Formats: sequence, C-alpha cells, structure tokens
Amino acid sequence: MTRKILVTSALPYANGSIHLGHLVEYIQTDIWVRFQKMQGHTVHYVCADDTHGTPIMLRAEKEGITPEALIEKVHAEHSQDFADFLVQFDNYYSTNSEENRQLSGNIYRALKANGKIATKTIEQYFDPVKSMFLPDRFIKGECPKCHAKDQYGDNCEVCGSTYSPTDLLNPYSAVSGATPVRKETEHYFFKLSECVDFLREWTRSGTLQAEAANKMSEWVGEVGENKLSDWDISRDAPYFGFEIPDAPGKYFYVWLDAPIGYMASFKNLCAKSQQAADGSQEPGLDFDEYWKKDSSTELYHFIGKDILYFHALFWPATLEYSGHRTPTQVFAHGFLTVNGEKMSKSRGTFITARSYLDHVKNPEYLRYYYAAKLNGSMEDIDLNLEDFVARVNSDLVGKYINIASRTAGFIAKKFDNKLIAAKHAVIDDMRAAAPAIAEAFAARDFARALREIMKLTDAANAYVAEAAPWVVAKDDSKAAELHAICSNALEMFRLLTIYLKPVLPNIAAAVEAFLNVQPLQWADVTQGLDAQTIQPYNHMVTRLEGKQIEAMVEANKESLQAAAPANTEAKVEAKAETKAAEEGDYISIDDFAKVDLRIAKIVSAEHVEGAEKLLKLLLDIGEEKPRQVFAGIKSAYDPATLVGRLTVMVANLAPRKMKFGMSEGMVLAASDERGGPYILSPDSGAQAGMRVK
Ligand code: 2FM
Ligand code: ZN
Repeated sequence: MTRKILVTSALPYANGSIHLGHLVEYIQTDIWVRFQKMQGHTVHYVCADDTHGTPIMLRAEKEGITPEALIEKVHAEHSQDFADFLVQFDNYYSTNSEENRQLSGNIYRALKANGKIATKTIEQYFDPVKSMFLPDRFIKGECPKCHAKDQYGDNCEVCGSTYSPTDLLNPYSAVSGATPVRKETEHYFFKLSECVDFLREWTRSGTLQAEAANKMSEWVGEVGENKLSDWDISRDAPYFGFEIPDAPGKYFYVWLDAPIGYMASFKNLCAKSQQAADGSQEPGLDFDEYWKKDSSTELYHFIGKDILYFHALFWPATLEYSGHRTPTQVFAHGFLTVNGEKMSKSRGTFITARSYLDHVKNPEYLRYYYAAKLNGSMEDIDLNLEDFVARVNSDLVGKYINIASRTAGFIAKKFDNKLIAAKHAVIDDMRAAAPAIAEAFAARDFARALREIMKLTDAANAYVAEAAPWVVAKDDSKAAELHAICSNALEMFRLLTIYLKPVLPNIAAAVEAFLNVQPLQWADVTQGLDAQTIQPYNHMVTRLEGKQIEAMVEANKESLQAAAPANTEAKVEAKAETKAAEEGDYISIDDFAKVDLRIAKIVSAEHVEGAEKLLKLLLDIGEEKPRQVFAGIKSAYDPATLVGRLTVMVANLAPRKMKFGMSEGMVLAASDERGGPYILSPDSGAQAGMRVK
C-alpha cells in the first residue's frame, strides 16, 4: 500500500549558522525520507527557517539591518548548507510568510472559539532605556539562592536553581544595562491546563518513544493530578513576529507560530504543486487531506530532545483544539558530542557546516558516520574525529568501493564493458537480507542497518578475494570464469548500493551512471542486472586524510584566536597553558613592558565578506599609515558606531596573515559569560598613538 507521509525537521533559528550538531537531525531525517521514498511511498519533507522573536530582532539591530534583511541572508546560507549536505527538502520556507500569518491567525481564532484562550494581567520586567519588555534570558542579576552575580533571569548557572526573573537580586537588562522596572501588561494564554486529559491520552498512545513518554507523564502528572500550567503565547511590541488578530501591539510568541511553520511550508508546497499541475493530468497536493482531523495521511516530526515539551504538549494540543489532526509520531534524538565532549569553540570542535565542507569536502563521509551511530533513541551521539577518519576509509573505501574497483577493470578490458547474468549464493544472501535492513531503516536504527550491510560487504569481499580475478585473468582459457566472477561482484556491488542509497545518494547516482541503470529503488533488489553494457569505471570515493580534519579543527580555532577577546573559554585555556609552562603566577615588569599598548583611533570599521566574527578596522596610532586589524567583535558592534572612537591596541604583536588579509595588531576587549566583547575606551584627553603603560 502506498502511504502518504509528511515529514519535518525542527526549524533552525534564523540568526546563526548551521553546525554539525544541527546536522545530526537533518541528516537523520533525510536518510529516513529517502528510504521511504525508495519504498515507493509518497513522501514530502518540509522545513523552514524559524524567524521570529527578540534575539533575531536584536541581532538585526546590532548588525544595523532590518530583521527581514537578516532572515533573508540567513535563509540563503541555510539553504545552501542543507543542499550541500544532500538534505533534500521538498520545500524549505520561512515562518515569516503570508501562509504562516494566515494559518497562525486561523488557529488562534479557532482556539479562541473553543474557549481555550484567556487573558491575564501579569507583571514583567521592562527596560526603560530600550522601552521594551525583557525576555527572561535578557535579564541578569544576582542569584536569590547562592548570590552568584550576573545570572540569567530563569536559572542560576552556579547553583543550578530555577526561579523567575522577578526573584533576581539587583537585576539589570542585558540589552542596555539599565535597571529594569516592573510593569503590568496584559498577556494572552492558551489554556493548556484544560487539555490535560487529552494530552495524557495522546502521550501514551504510541506517538512517542518510551523514554519521551515517561518524561511526558512526569510533566503532565498522574491520573487525577494536573501539573500543566497555561501557556503564555503573547509578547508585547516591539517584537519581530505576527501581530495577534484584534489585539494591537500584541504579538504571537515565536513558539506559537514556529510549528505552524511546518504547515505553512507544506501549504506553500501545495500551491507550487498546484501551479505545476495546472493543465496536466496530475492533481496538485491537497493541504486539507494532510491536516484535517482524522486524516489518513501520516505526520512525523524529527526533533532534538530539548524541544520535546513544545512538540509533545503545546503542539498536539494546539492542533487538537483548533480542529486539526495530531502528529502520528514525534521522533526525538540526542545531542552531538565531539571527541566525547560538548562542542567547543576553543578546541575547534564547534564546527560549522560550511567549514566542514571547506576542509573535508565530501558530505557523505559525515552522513555515513552519523548513520553508523544513530539508533533511533534519545541517546547523545559522539563524533570521534579519529574514529571518523578510520571508519570512513575502512568501510567506504576499503570495503564497499573496493568491490567495484577490483573487478570493473576486467569487464572493460576483457569483455568490452559487457556483463553476464550473475548467480551466486552470496547474492542470494544479500537479497534475503532486504527485509531486515528495511526494518532497521524504518525504525531509524541506521546503526543496525549499516551493521547488516557491512556484514554483506565483508561477504562480497571474501568472495572476490577467494575467487581472485587477478589470478584467473592470467589464464586466457578461464575467460568465462573471470567474466562470471566480475559480473557477480558487480551485482553484489549494485545490491549494496541500493541498501546504502538513503545514506549515500551521490555515490549511488555515480553507481547508477556506471552500471547504466535507472535510479535504484528498493524493489530493484529482487531483480538482477541484465547482461548489459556498463560504463568505464571511475573511482567514486577518495580516502579521507587525517590532515583534512586537523586543518578543519585548526581553522575553527584560528577564527577564534582572531576573536580571542570575545571568548572567555579560549582565554581561560590559554592562561592555564601559560601557567603550566612557567610554573609561576607573576610576570616581571620587564615582561609587561614588552607589550606595546597604544591608544588607537578607529578610522574605519567594516564587515568582512565571509567572516562570521570579524570586523576590519583601520587604526590610527600616530604612524604614517593606519594599521589594519581584524577584530572578533562583530557580534557586539555595528561598525558605523565605532568610527571615530578611541580604543587600546597591542601595537607590537607580530603581523599575522589571515584568510582575509594581514592583521597588524590586536584590539583589546573584555568578555566572559556575562557578555561582551566590550572594547576599551581611554579617559578623555588621551590621544591616538599615546603609549599605555
Ligand atoms: O529550538 C529551535 O531551534 C527552534 N527554532 C525549533 C523550532 S521547531 C518548530 F517547532 F518550529
Ligand atoms: Zn545560584
């Protein structure tokens, strides 16, 4: 039976780059979607950028551009990153779309008509300088429990306690530094507490993995108990988002319209498919068929375990009480660690999608490695960089491709590129393994699927090694035997390619061209290759070199060194190293005097094309020509506001050649987990070129 399946991955925020952590999810989803498509099901995979909210609004302000310009720029970057990792969305859209505005409005109206919306006056912190209410993350102050300074408004990173921002002692606004005032405001709430029976039922109906369902029971409470509070879905202006219908100055909280963005992306896909269908026999996609109550289509959301609450409580309740279908299943996965630790900028393991592509180039290595680690559970997965190189080389190059590279040449040289019908017990075993492999893919246990496939690959290699075509080829009287061995081996190679195709779509396409076959489907397992003519063999995968990985890690560190003042972690590590080297806590005055610190006047400041963190500054320190310095302060400063300011630079740091040009010094700036970078300003009276000592 052909199933109709709609699949989503979580929508990435439109204010940051895609990194290898994000890719765990997109690659996982893409493999599953490709597998289902190969089964012949009708599958649509949609996603979008998550564009609304205060952080995006403030980031755009900092960059001196409109939020619309920011999200457009990021949309282009994200789309390219996903395409280059072979993540094949049927639609990649934006939550800031007309479809989403309408759907969000309609859903809100339906919830209201169902009596599920309430208003309440609440008291919130307000930044009197910026004239805005502050989200919890933008209020800092002293922890009411342990008195640690500069803690966020929702929890203390020192003692771990959680509280509300109004509990903080000596609070300040992380946006302007001003002391916030408490102010009353009316907010809109979704009455989640009234959805408790529905949610208890839904979370236990097989829609969630067991570990997720347990979490949910904790959040919802046992029968007879209700732990759910109503959900605050509004934010006051200024806010980048959708204004709530009939509530001027009130906006939907980003998490209200984000999942509706799944629908909006699909709606947009429907419109495109209808345009395409215009005049043709095929009808376009029908939005309602997929979203109406009791739809017979399937809906799957792939998400990280950190956003389970939104997808297993708010989202199904929103759908249910606005008259829509609910998700068939929510698939939550764990986080990515690199070399067993949290990704770290200072260690160079916070790796962006782009820097991976720049250095490693081949996205299929990572797809393969992630697949080998993913088992459909919520456990974290580890990218061990050494193991990554070893595994890719051993499995892909040493085992899989090896089957073709050791046999294809004989077919070209001796048999005019023609195959004969294949027949061998190993081939039979390979065909027989199809259901078990399919079952593992369907269950998102890609690790098990690949283990099975690699077992078969080993069997194919053992066959080739034993048959030794390179020996048989020396004896002209054994041409028929040679022909059979190589044809068998290439049929094995074809079968393995079918199984690996969801993971390695580019390699599979190259194999299809080489074997002269139509795009391989799962059902092609049952049918052998005809006695057909193939194309000359070209090598399809090259070995991954350890030095590519080293260069990638180094590059991620390098860009950080340029931004060193902005990163506490790097500084702390650097300090520890120096200390270990010198075994002393002090430097002498002579050591200090070696550093030539100067007052510098910022003559110009500009963005650097392609640099995530850097601004290019020209600094006048009283020399004939201003110095060019790349400073890692882009995240905190609009270049226009820097021009004309005085600051402090290290003038005798050896010039450094960077990707974007020479850097002839270093600007000093302060930072730590409380914020920054903040560049230094001298007292009035200081002049460009004065020595700081
Ligand atoms: O956590 C995040 O990155 C969110 N942007 C995910 C949104 S998923 C969906 F609900 F829109
Ligand atoms: Zn504390």
